Amino acid sequence: MIDYYSPTAEFYDLVGVQRWTQSDALLASVLTGTGTGHGPVLDLGAGTGRATEVIARTLPDARILAVEPSSPMRAVLTSRVVRDEDLRPRVTVVAATAQEMELPDRLSAAVICGVLGYLDRAERTALLGRITDRLPTGAPIVVELMAVRAPQSVAPMRIARQTLGEQDYEAWLSGEPCGPEQMRWSATWRVLRGSRVLREVDVTHEWYTFGIEDLAAGTGLTAKQITPELGVLVR
Ligand SMILES: C[S@@+](CC[C@H](N)C(=O)[O-])C[C@H]1O[C@@H](n2cnc3c(N)ncnc32)[C@H](O)[C@@H]1O
Repeated sequence: MIDYYSPTAEFYDLVGVQRWTQSDALLASVLTGTGTGHGPVLDLGAGTGRATEVIARTLPDARILAVEPSSPMRAVLTSRVVRDEDLRPRVTVVAATAQEMELPDRLSAAVICGVLGYLDRAERTALLGRITDRLPTGAPIVVELMAVRAPQSVAPMRIARQTLGEQDYEAWLSGEPCGPEQMRWSATWRVLRGSRVLREVDVTHEWYTFGIEDLAAGTGLTAKQITPELGVLVR
């Protein structure tokens, strides 16, 4: 696995918080009513713990298995969990990839936000099979993808801006096709003081493009599209 997130983990929450208000509410509405007695809720690619927190608040009886391979992202996740008396006894943080993680025999639900495009088709199929085998009928696998379902050029756009103390932070994103089912996203993070750029960090991510229906095809799961980014798979 390529760790795309280590170079930019410091920026993740900084610019994310502006974008999460709506997506957190949607995630919460999709999870509401989910049974939690079958096993933990898997938060795969938990990052800094944004979805972990939504799961915990929405499903107050759930235990959560938060799997995150990137060490700096996991550092923020661990900090978020340990400082919160509610999260601390309920969230287990595991350092692993989707491909290598060990799973308990039973899960109550799975949340996979911003992760599946890093896995190729065979890896996605194997993963969904492993998760589905552990879920009770009707339990959701909630999936957040990028809204782009087929490779295309995306012109540079500023996706977030945040001010912290005397500095501004900006995130820019552009994309180009790099294969029949894959895009290369270029992200630039800038730290500015006034008009002076103090630091710039560039990263590229390769991401498979597909939609929620493509994920369901041939798995026996039913897909429900909630928004262009968010969907649910159910058996
Ligand atoms: C866009 S972030 C999403 C983080 C979090 N789920 C959220 O919604 O804020 C993608 C996360 O997936 C993780 N990731 C990337 N490849 C992965 C893999 N093969 N297995 C598990 N996690 C992976 C990254 O380290 C990163 O933390």
